[in-house]
Amino acid sequence: MTVDWSRFQRPLPTWFADAKFGIFVHWGAYSVPAWAEPTGELGTVDEHTWFRHNAYAEWYWNTIRIDDSPARKHHLETYGDAPYDDFLDAWRAEEFDPGAWCDLFARAGARYVVPTTKHHDGIALWDAPGTATRNTVHRGPRRDLVGELARAAREAGLRFGVYYSGGLDWSVTPHLPAIDTFAGVRALRPNDAAYAAYAYLHVRDLIDRYRPDVLWNDIEWPEAGKHDGALGLAELFRYFYETVPDGVVNDRWGDTHWDFRTSEYQHALAAETAPAWENNRGIGLSFGYNQVEDSRHLMDGPRLVRHLVDVVSRGGNLLLNVGPTASGAIPDGQRRPLEELAAWMAAHSGVVHGSRPLDGAVATASDEPWVRWTRTSDRAWAVVDAHGRVVLPARADRLELGSAALADGAPVAAHVDPAGVAVELPGPSGMPVAVGFDVR
Ligand code: GLC
Repeated sequence: MTVDWSRFQRPLPTWFADAKFGIFVHWGAYSVPAWAEPTGELGTVDEHTWFRHNAYAEWYWNTIRIDDSPARKHHLETYGDAPYDDFLDAWRAEEFDPGAWCDLFARAGARYVVPTTKHHDGIALWDAPGTATRNTVHRGPRRDLVGELARAAREAGLRFGVYYSGGLDWSVTPHLPAIDTFAGVRALRPNDAAYAAYAYLHVRDLIDRYRPDVLWNDIEWPEAGKHDGALGLAELFRYFYETVPDGVVNDRWGDTHWDFRTSEYQHALAAETAPAWENNRGIGLSFGYNQVEDSRHLMDGPRLVRHLVDVVSRGGNLLLNVGPTASGAIPDGQRRPLEELAAWMAAHSGVVHGSRPLDGAVATASDEPWVRWTRTSDRAWAVVDAHGRVVLPARADRLELGSAALADGAPVAAHVDPAGVAVELPGPSGMPVAVGFDVR
């Protein structure tokens, strides 16, 4: 049966285009062992290295099933042959304070939060239909983690989305070989009608309970569910938009429908040329908390600001992942850059939120010095990671040089230079600084 997916096409809701920044949360039973090799960024590591030495701690259950993988060795040494589900019972979430999380996310400038509601391990973070007791309401934390976070997010003025792994569910395919290639991700996913109905009822339940603003599916939707009838994906999209008219869906449902494309670290960068896109990545090299990571792997505040502004300057949103510990604490190595971002945002929100890319005929990006541009209704903004006299690659005749000022309004001296526009910037502050101009 072919479905006409184009009927779901619609203008991108302004809230999503204006938001620019969201927080992804990967939290699960895998946050108990919290162990992976910090191999590299997805998209920069060849696939045979990637799966055996998987940098994603949320893939723990798969990685420990690969013969001779260092994760398997670590697991045997630390936990003997304990089954994975022991981690569900050991996960207590005793320090989980969703209000405090959302306060930090909002201060950092996030406008939406997207937690995992069921990752590849199949454990639901709410009382999901058909999961019996294999969820966080009946075991482990004994809380509706999705519901608590949804409420806190909205109280903090944030939109709320749900990540759902429709493509992989290792609890319904427990006897398949471990995945060790990208082709294996496609080949070893459940595609039958029973699983398609199970996944449909999960996402439908998420819509009914939490009215998510974003449906963020992962990997792909099961083949048997890509139809127009009862329990089909078309019906799911129809029901979602009926319930949440300004909701958005991502692009990981297969070749069906999406409101925005996604890139992940350095993978699928072609998505970043689409009209609407979102880059997602961890602060380090993993989504789930990885206790092995240290400052060599984690972005610091300035790097985080540069990454966010780079994405925004090219018209994307950043969905930055936080991986809490099993107790629900946000580890210092992740909290620190978020606090640095929050301090920067307090002065620079107006350069980021609601902005659009600046016309390349007015000014262009450069890496030496580091310069990126955004455009708000009345200003062109150069975000610059340099201080003192800096030459911006810009057309001096297109900018009102007399209007040059920092984000707080302090005037900046600007002059025509053979290579563009020379400005005198304060610093060093250790952080990028923004200078705005009226556009001619
Ligand atoms: C991938 C990974 C997964 C992570 C996700 C985030 O598909 O399998 O662990 O949740 O991307 O984009």
